[in-house]
Amino acid sequence: MVPQWVIEKKRDGGVLDESEIRSFIHGFTVGDIPEYQMSALAMAIYFRGMTDEETAVLTDAMMRSGDLLSFENWPCPTADKHSTGGIGDKISLMLAPLAVTAGLAVPMISGRGLGITGGTLDKLESISGYNTRLDVDAFKRVVSEVGCSIIGQTDRLAPADKKLYALRDVTGTVPSVPLITASIMSKKLAEGAQTLVFDVKCGRAAFMRTPEDARKLADSLCRVGRALGRKTDALITDMNRPLGRTAGNAVEVREAVETLRGAGPQDTRDLTVELTARMAVTAGTYPDLEQAKVALYAKLDDGSALEVFRRMVVAQGGDPAFIDHSECLPQPGAAVEVSAENGGKVTDVDAEAIGRVVLRLGGGRQQVTDTIDPAAGVDRLVQVGEQVEAGQPLMRLLARDRATAESCLPAARAAVTVQADE
Ligand code: URA
Repeated sequence: MVPQWVIEKKRDGGVLDESEIRSFIHGFTVGDIPEYQMSALAMAIYFRGMTDEETAVLTDAMMRSGDLLSFENWPCPTADKHSTGGIGDKISLMLAPLAVTAGLAVPMISGRGLGITGGTLDKLESISGYNTRLDVDAFKRVVSEVGCSIIGQTDRLAPADKKLYALRDVTGTVPSVPLITASIMSKKLAEGAQTLVFDVKCGRAAFMRTPEDARKLADSLCRVGRALGRKTDALITDMNRPLGRTAGNAVEVREAVETLRGAGPQDTRDLTVELTARMAVTAGTYPDLEQAKVALYAKLDDGSALEVFRRMVVAQGGDPAFIDHSECLPQPGAAVEVSAENGGKVTDVDAEAIGRVVLRLGGGRQQVTDTIDPAAGVDRLVQVGEQVEAGQPLMRLLARDRATAESCLPAARAAVTVQADE
């Protein structure tokens, strides 16, 4: 395989052979193919696209660049969910334990937040003692004993993706459906779950801004998953507005516990149940969505899912005290209320603007190497359709000190639109 011939073939709109794709990815992973040639191929793929067959081979090659976990002959179906990321998206924290109550095992490997998008791993790390770095044997032991485990990505899981993603990030080649598909799927497939459900976010705070683009990605993820032997389903959900009433890390864990107690914001509760129901139906533990949803709402309301969550936290070394005493979670140095300038109906809460506020409060990272403040974020966020009085709080800003919180007041106020009463 001559790398420049492969690049030229894709540049001219050709369809790459399986051996060309596999050799290229292998060469890049081991360092034989330099970054400039990989970048050129990524750009050619960006402009020319890939067929489903090419995308499946690319995904498979990237998946096989590292360790593969196996849950073969597991006593119950294994399933996982992937979200393309958003503001206030704490769904995994509730979904994994809830899915266990539906007869599934959930081996979940999650990522960290970057830019305005939060990451499940950062949220879990606000729990004192919780170990996100279990080795494969310990990970499998927790899945076996509890039914679910959530850990962080290791360097040995799809290393080709790690290398390629870093390159795409600086070469303008991130927004390509085949490249995003291969990136997401190579990691998810390496994890070994038989059923995968995707929550493709759509809107101003999402990767995919339009329903058409979100649909293209959802279809591509499902088709490639099926081509590689998995059961798949996808949901396209709104990311114009934040999910729930919190965005940050410790605050989202608190809201997750509320939701696992049968309370929590309705949008958060509904999406948790919808995605978990799809996992259960796709994996075959419930015959249809309606039956699954009725059962799953009941498992939130009777505390069964919360008990699974508690056992997972303990099994991973975490102190479960925060479940009954939320003050055991990291607390901010300052909390500043953002009040409404006029009364009326909330007609918009801009998720992208809220994401930027959380970042400035210290709850997110601009570079992978940045550290985050687990207590920073926003809570008590109003939601669209609610009525507010002048002077009433729209949200609280949580930061390490008052000056940091106050510096975000104008941006936070501008993120919420209140239409004055006639
Ligand atoms: N998430 C990923 O893991 N990869 C992408 O390319 C985009 C989103």
